[in-house]
Amino acid sequence: MITIAIGKGRMQESALALLARAGICLNEGVNSRRLALMDETRQYRFIFVKPADVPVYVEHGIADCGIVGRDVLLESEADLLLPLDLGISRCRIVVAAVDPQAMTNVQGMIRVATKYAQIARAHFGARGIPVEIIQLSGSVELAPALGLADMIVDLVETGVTLRENGLTVVEEIAESTGRLVVNRASYQLKSDEVSKLIRALEDLV
Ligand code: PRP
Repeated sequence: MITIAIGKGRMQESALALLARAGICLNEGVNSRRLALMDETRQYRFIFVKPADVPVYVEHGIADCGIVGRDVLLESEADLLLPLDLGISRCRIVVAAVDPQAMTNVQGMIRVATKYAQIARAHFGARGIPVEIIQLSGSVELAPALGLADMIVDLVETGVTLRENGLTVVEEIAESTGRLVVNRASYQLKSDEVSKLIRALEDLV
């Protein structure tokens, strides 16, 4: 049996749909609040955790594999094998502001609100732009309107959240899709099972 950690929320539905297409189906409890479920064949156990915790569970070997967005992986320092881009949950990590010219119009140090402190720091650092990072946990789009920040670094999928909060994209930092990640030891010790999973998913992407 192998354990697969899946990020709850935006990734969960598309990950389970992809696994179902690969013939790995959850028989019960998908709509329940149970956080650990077996597939029909009992070869796979799924655990549903916060997206940012997927790399933690996989690095520590509690889960053999994980399905998580590239945005989370860029933010994480976990040591994982990254065998497969699953192409699901495609979105962009962007800099957004009320003023499209904010990058040149802001006076003094730019204040950037984000859930993605590492990504934001690396992005502005590489361009030699000094910024103050304001770490938030969600609803980041509120920060410019309320005067907490000049800009945000956040995920954009449909663009609706940005639009409805009066923000426009100033710069694109990276694209993010769901990735299959694998624990280093599991890749060796459970190589048959892990390879079988990778092959089944590879055929679909
Ligand atoms: C993400 C992201 C944006 C929103 C973008 O938030 O942080 O707020 O989705 O989606 P859209 O472009 O389709 O409108 P998420 O739903 O992951 O929750 P959060 O409020 O915890 O950041």
